[in-house]
Amino acid sequence: MAKGDDVLNQFEKAKKEEIRTDGRKLKVGIIGTGWIAESHIQSYQRMPDVEVVALADLIPGKAEAFAKEWGVEGCRFYPDHLSMLEAEELDAVSVCTYNMTHAVCTIDALNHGVNVLLEKPMCVTTEEAVEIIRAEKKSGKVLSIGFQPRFDPNMQQIKKICEAGVLGEIYYIQTGGGRRRGIPNSTFIEKRTAGIGALGDIGCYSLDMVLNAIGYPKPLTVTGYTSDFFGKSLEYSLPENACRFDVDDFAAAFIRLEGDIILDFRVAWAMHVDTPGDTIIFGKKAALRIPSTDCWNGTVGGPMTIYHDVAGQRVETVLPIIENRGMGLFDRKIRSFLDAIKNGGTAPVPSSQILYNQAIIDHIVKSAALKKEVEVVIPEI
Ligand SMILES: NC(=O)c1ccc[n+]([C@@H]2O[C@H](COP(=O)([O-])OP(=O)(O)OC[C@H]3O[C@@H](n4cnc5c(N)ncnc54)[C@H](O)[C@@H]3O)[C@@H](O)[C@H]2O)c1
Repeated sequence: MAKGDDVLNQFEKAKKEEIRTDGRKLKVGIIGTGWIAESHIQSYQRMPDVEVVALADLIPGKAEAFAKEWGVEGCRFYPDHLSMLEAEELDAVSVCTYNMTHAVCTIDALNHGVNVLLEKPMCVTTEEAVEIIRAEKKSGKVLSIGFQPRFDPNMQQIKKICEAGVLGEIYYIQTGGGRRRGIPNSTFIEKRTAGIGALGDIGCYSLDMVLNAIGYPKPLTVTGYTSDFFGKSLEYSLPENACRFDVDDFAAAFIRLEGDIILDFRVAWAMHVDTPGDTIIFGKKAALRIPSTDCWNGTVGGPMTIYHDVAGQRVETVLPIIENRGMGLFDRKIRSFLDAIKNGGTAPVPSSQILYNQAIIDHIVKSAALKKEVEVVIPEI
């Protein structure tokens, strides 16, 4: 290695993030030990100031098997979230349950004085989101919603571009994403457990990407459409899944936001095309194109482009993808939550913003059922 490389590598090393803690260990419980709990436990295990002391799951033996698989020693097991909250003195919980129990687990945890990291989507309905925020306010605890793409420097760049006025006044946004074929199974495809389908699984990411960038304006009206052709079809789904599929596998909506901004949205778990389109933000000075991915999970699919005029000439500025260095996005989501608890800070992904995300999803469902435009109604908090 050349001497110059050594010098540069020193800078690289210096960039590595150190986790500085005050030595105090936080006692953490995980509610729901399914698939996403695996990412939570791995992140917590990388945090020197966390002790995972309790695991709860409705399915007998699941939490015990989870502990064994991930080498969680000395923790206690519970058959549901409430028995865990009643028996333990916890600093925090991760709510990793399916969508239909997000609200009850979060509200019960907050009522027991426990800080909550709640997986996305926030919940299923607007009313549940409001109840969650009421419990949060009453408790004075930290509640953060688990949108790890928020910590992606490319996502942060979108927000910086919008906030810096590069696009001028924004008046129209097209967003969404999807997969040509990518319907999950397990608990994601039934109302009983998931409540909503593609809308809650991946639609919430698209909404967060653009709404966070423009400061989460209030949604006013929604014209929504949902369908379930692929999920219910024996041609595209396994019989054992098709017969229980009762959520959306595609949704589209036209949403009016405060500030006279139009949001044109579509999301698909399955369709006969590779992507329902890139995200495009139209401003009066310039437009931004954010390439979609073929497995929509809230990431930027490639270099973004700004379309603008320079002295009368139409030009395009391509923004290279920014590499995420140091801690991974999931670790950042967990760390920012822990730091907010320890430092008495605000939630990294606040419920006050995600309320609007949830209200849009819920009103798409409502509008689709009524087959007409609906006004977005959010009860007073
Ligand atoms: N952030 C991400 O990248 C990401 C990725 C995948 C899933 N998720 C979200 O995570 C959530 C869970 O998804 P999953 O794939 O892990 O689901 P899963 O079905 O694999 O696991 C959920 C578990 O929660 C348990 N559970 C439900 N209610 C409970 C209660 N009251 N008390 C205790 N346990 C309870 C169930 O028995 C089940 O084992 C979903 O809301 C999903 O949207 C987030």
